[in-house]
Amino acid sequence: MPVLTIMPSGKQIQAAEGMSILQAILSSGESINHKCEGKAECGSCHIFVSEGRKSISKIQRLENEKLDTIVGVGSKSRLACQAILGNENVTVEILTFV
Ligand code: FES
Repeated sequence: MPVLTIMPSGKQIQAAEGMSILQAILSSGESINHKCEGKAECGSCHIFVSEGRKSISKIQRLENEKLDTIVGVGSKSRLACQAILGNENVTVEILTFV
């Protein structure tokens, strides 16, 4: 089971493989925007994945198109609702707060 580290709080949780990073963050009790409830439409769940990027699901077309519309996107950017955890540990940085 992957360990998800959530920055800036540094909280660590045991997550399940196949879970979205958004689900994992919310289940940890941390706050993250998710205005469209995980449909890749709002972009509010934008995060940086600083470690473990290779183990999470690849960016699909919908996510890519939405990321293209967000200011401040970089090579570590993902939409938390679209990034599915694999079996390796991942560290993410939440960029906006509810
Ligand atoms: S919750 Fe809207 S894009 Fe992720």
